[in-house]
Amino acid sequence: NKRSKIRSILEKKPIGDQVTLMGWVRTKRSNKNITFIALNDGSIIQNYQIVADPNVIDEKTLRRITTGASIKVTGKVVASQGAGQDSELVAESLEVLGEADPEKYPLQPKKHSLEFLREIAHLRMRTNTFGAVFRVRHALSFAIHQYFHEKGFYYIHTPIITASDAEGAGETFKVTTLDPKNPPLTPEGEIDYKEDFFERETNLTVSGQLEGELAAMALSEVYTFGPTFRAENSNTTRHLAEFWMIEPEMAFYDAEDNQDLAEDFLKYIIKYALENSPKDLAFLDKRASDENAKKPANERSEMGLLERLKFIIDNEFERITYTEAIEILKKSKPNKKKKFKYLIEEWGADLQSEHERFLVEKHFKKPVIITDYPKDIKAFYMKQNEDDKTVAAMDILFPGIGEIVGGSQREDNMEKLTCRMGQLDISEEELFWYLDTRRFGSVPHSGFGLGFERMVQFVTGMGNIRDVIAFPRTPGSAEF
Ligand code: 4AD
Ligand code: MG
Repeated sequence: NKRSKIRSILEKKPIGDQVTLMGWVRTKRSNKNITFIALNDGSIIQNYQIVADPNVIDEKTLRRITTGASIKVTGKVVASQGAGQDSELVAESLEVLGEADPEKYPLQPKKHSLEFLREIAHLRMRTNTFGAVFRVRHALSFAIHQYFHEKGFYYIHTPIITASDAEGAGETFKVTTLDPKNPPLTPEGEIDYKEDFFERETNLTVSGQLEGELAAMALSEVYTFGPTFRAENSNTTRHLAEFWMIEPEMAFYDAEDNQDLAEDFLKYIIKYALENSPKDLAFLDKRASDENAKKPANERSEMGLLERLKFIIDNEFERITYTEAIEILKKSKPNKKKKFKYLIEEWGADLQSEHERFLVEKHFKKPVIITDYPKDIKAFYMKQNEDDKTVAAMDILFPGIGEIVGGSQREDNMEKLTCRMGQLDISEEELFWYLDTRRFGSVPHSGFGLGFERMVQFVTGMGNIRDVIAFPRTPGSAEF
């Protein structure tokens, strides 16, 4: 009478054993002589068939079993004649743990739109699609820790509440305990943050990088993996206000070492997911191809999901400079009718997502690492190149996603760094702790940030970033 999970029964096939399963009913089919229940416990995508004989399990209990109800069932594992499953469970005792009123339970067995499921995010994890997505999300998280652990990196935890805006984009969420209606004021009539909890202005972190750099200056190779917050008002399928970021930071790495690590890392975690989540990915592959078939011909992707994941692992990423990217975009013909409309770019402009997608999906047809961006469109901490115009930045662009990684070699020269901070009006006093790493034992170092949800999107083929995080935070939406 061992408590078991569907996953382990499917793997171990314990024919003849008595086991107890607990889970949620997906469907029930009955005739006079027998009842079949498809049970799911989330341990694996497959349902497990429970066979209940009305002579053994009373009618009243069987009647309470509806889609969504939770049950506990004990019985014998027997070989199954049915197709698609080696074994089934013949119920000896069955208890309904919680009913689910069929009139009210929203997840009846039919296809629900992702939009509808987003409105019931508190229940959507019970569907096959979301079960698969969150199991793959777990596998990727695990792979990330395993990768860095195997390489001797240390996992560090950087603060969620901070006083810095690492990226300098001014998109922070403020953290305060002051009464917004009646804040204390300075004699000059400004809000007096000295009276606030931390006795200064604070915000939720946009990136753990700056603190990560401090750790790399002590432990050599470190990484963070934590939540980050951005109050950017972009309502797109690629942006969240709360997302998870992986930020490795390495002392003694130059820009090229950084690119090599990033490419190796991305391939490793994709390979891990392929090897460890084959069932979920097979399901998502089928789902993606059904979705793809519904799209207009010119928007359809040429590769299936699994095919694309394998392709990424097996092929080298393209590496080009920003300047080369602009040359390619300038030479390409604008096409007003198609997906990629505006391809002419001037040097100095930031690449828009359609430019990125053109480079990745049309021109190179593989991931692209773009390096050496103009300094004016990148953050203050990036290492300045000899040309005085560009910095040792890198963005990694993925098909169907666009930018998935942003990183750089860091400016390790105190004079150059403070000069750049002066130009951007960033206070040296506020960042004294950051500058101390350049003051004492400064070394060349580099790092990057992977947007975790964008990676989960890429691996699962989900089109909207809201569908790869359990409780998405987006403009106007912070329910649950
Ligand atoms: O390019 P970003 O802004 O770089 C940094 O924050 C650096 N401090 C990283 C570093 O060098 N340590 O963000 C890094 C990645 C992006 O490439 C993107 O994948 C993801 O984070 N990202 C977002 N993902 C979801 N929603 C958002 N609003 C995102 N903003 C960035
Ligand atoms: Mg970026």
